[in-house]
Amino acid sequence: MSDSGWPADRIDTEHAHSARIYDYILGGKDYYPADREAGDAMAAEWPALPVHMRANRDWMNRAVRWLAEEAGIRQFLDIGTGIPTSPNLHEIAQSVAPASRVVYVDNDPIVLTLSQGLLSSTPEGRTTYIEADFQRPEAVLESAEFRSTLDLGEPVALTVIAIVHFVLDEDDAVGIVRRLLEPLPSGSYLAMTIGTAEFAPQEVGRVAREYAARDMPMRLRTIDEAHEFFEGLDLVEPGIVQVHQWHPDGTGEKGIRDEDIAMYGAVARKP
Ligand SMILES: C[S@@+](CC[C@H](N)C(=O)[O-])C[C@H]1O[C@@H](n2cnc3c(N)ncnc32)[C@H](O)[C@@H]1O
Repeated sequence: MSDSGWPADRIDTEHAHSARIYDYILGGKDYYPADREAGDAMAAEWPALPVHMRANRDWMNRAVRWLAEEAGIRQFLDIGTGIPTSPNLHEIAQSVAPASRVVYVDNDPIVLTLSQGLLSSTPEGRTTYIEADFQRPEAVLESAEFRSTLDLGEPVALTVIAIVHFVLDEDDAVGIVRRLLEPLPSGSYLAMTIGTAEFAPQEVGRVAREYAARDMPMRLRTIDEAHEFFEGLDLVEPGIVQVHQWHPDGTGEKGIRDEDIAMYGAVARKP
């Protein structure tokens, strides 16, 4: 058992995993030597990797705040949550509206092990955690936690942040996201970040090869491919841009160059 009381024996500590590499690069503490080795090898190929990953996390922070403050969203379905990292999505949403409800979804056993950190809801609000593979959307949509936490009579923000670059073409990432949006009512939102190699093709290509060498093949997308996720939705200004260019608020890292960022970000409303 882990310290948190959850069974930890399903965690494969021998091989690097995306959630733990991300935690290592972000300066967290929930990783193993294999993750550190992988993260170091990737950062050696592309020294901007930590800037890029922090900019993605900062985007999550700004996009959720925008959804809560400007769009009045009080319910969130967060796919590919990752290891708890302060502030977590519910902490941002509940700092704006304490009654906000958040359903977290991930399929990595370490995220389940550490999920207590995601369940620290305000008394007025609610958070739940579903261990599920989002490539089987029905596992999320038909779960008791999803149905009992979210009121589908009210808008929901579906957040799919830094995950579709792990979904290969044969698994149809666009179709999966559409299926997750389907039951959400008009006025709901889709907020996504989407990996791209368009701004530093060689360096990001080498990082992708490092992931692939560790059994995590990547599918990086062009701007046109990123647009496919948002067909039929109304993109919020400024549309699909690199994450550091979406609603900058001056709190993030200064002096970020376009070639340091391999992630598009966008928010769109379901009509
Ligand atoms: C790079 S992390 C992103 C974490 C967080 N969304 C963020 O942007 O800060 C990607 C997360 O997606 C999760 N993930 C990858 N494939 C998944 C799948 N098929 N189903 C559910 N979660 C998945 C990983 O376990 C990991 O925690």
